[in-house]
Amino acid sequence: TVERTLSIIKPDATRRNITGKINTVFEVGGLRVVGQKRIQLTTKQAGAFYEVHKDRPFYNELVTFMTSAPVVVQVLEGENAVARHRELMGATNPEEAAEGTVRKLYAQSIGENSVHGSDSLENAEREIAFFFAETEILP
Ligand code: CMP
Repeated sequence: TVERTLSIIKPDATRRNITGKINTVFEVGGLRVVGQKRIQLTTKQAGAFYEVHKDRPFYNELVTFMTSAPVVVQVLEGENAVARHRELMGATNPEEAAEGTVRKLYAQSIGENSVHGSDSLENAEREIAFFFAETEILP
C-alpha cells in the first residue's frame, strides 16, 4: 500500500550542501517528495519533536544539533514508504549502515547522521502533521 512518511535532512547535511544527493537516494529508491521545506528549527520545536527521547542522555545534544543549522523537512510518498525510507537511510549508527544507504554514504556519526525518518505509520502521521498542513502536500 502507498504510504507517507516524514523525513528530515539534518544540519550536518544542509551544511555540506548534500540535500540533492540525499534526495537522489530517496527518488532512485522509489520514493517521491510530495512536500518539502527548508526551515530553522527553534529549541522549543526540536525539543517537542524529540519529546520521546527527553530522558535519554543524548537529548540535549540532539536538540542543540538539530537547531545548529537549517533542516529540510519532507513528506515522502510511495509503496511501503515508512519501511522503504528506513531501508534507504540505513542503520542509525553509520558504522552499522549497509552499503549504498544515506547514512553509509554521508553520515558523520550516530548523532550527526544526516537524516531522520518516522519509525512507524502511526508516528509518520503525527510527525507529518507536526510540520505540514495538508495543503502543503502535493502528490
Ligand atoms: P533520529 O532518527 O533523528 O532519532 C533520534 C536521534 O537521536 C537519532 O536519529 C540519532 O541521531 C540520535 N541519537 C541516537 N543515539 C545517539 C547517541 N548515542 N548519541 C547522540 N545522538 C544519538
